[in-house]
Amino acid sequence: MQDRAVQSDAEPQPLPEKVSVTLTVKGTERRFSVLPWVSLLDALRDHLDLTGTKKGCDHGQCGACTVLVDGRRINSCLTLAVMRDGAHVTTIEGLAANGALDPLQQAFIDHDAFQCGYCTPGQICSGVGLIAEGRAKTPDEIREFMSGNICRCGAYPNIVAAIQQAMGTRP
Ligand code: FES
Ligand code: FES
Repeated sequence: MQDRAVQSDAEPQPLPEKVSVTLTVKGTERRFSVLPWVSLLDALRDHLDLTGTKKGCDHGQCGACTVLVDGRRINSCLTLAVMRDGAHVTTIEGLAANGALDPLQQAFIDHDAFQCGYCTPGQICSGVGLIAEGRAKTPDEIREFMSGNICRCGAYPNIVAAIQQAMGTRP
């Protein structure tokens, strides 16, 4: 019987050089070095110790990793840290100011808009981005524009109510 084992004679390839990246987080410039394929999500969690941003799917499907980059909400698992060199990044840790919660953080508490809390940092960052966009006016529009943020606990009605409160559109 023919031996199907295949031996590779390829030389192991050396790792590429790490790349220096600077991000402004919570008003402070943070410089670190990463391999070129490190996602912004992993850079935040593993290099800057900002573990409030969660990894759910790591494939752009759940929104747990949502952060604000230069004011726009993105899935941080889908972008490389090196692509964001020089950016201002706001994570859940950076939303409170002068000891006061962001109005949407407070609204999540007021409306009990979480159960396990795993999706919550992404929900709140996404909601802050949504409010800044000014596109959603109705609960249906909030649901539509927040559809990239999955909550496995099903806290959606409370999340929508919290966003309405922070938008000032809750009757
Ligand atoms: Fe980024 Fe799920 S972890 S979208
Ligand atoms: Fe548990 Fe949303 S609160 S996944």
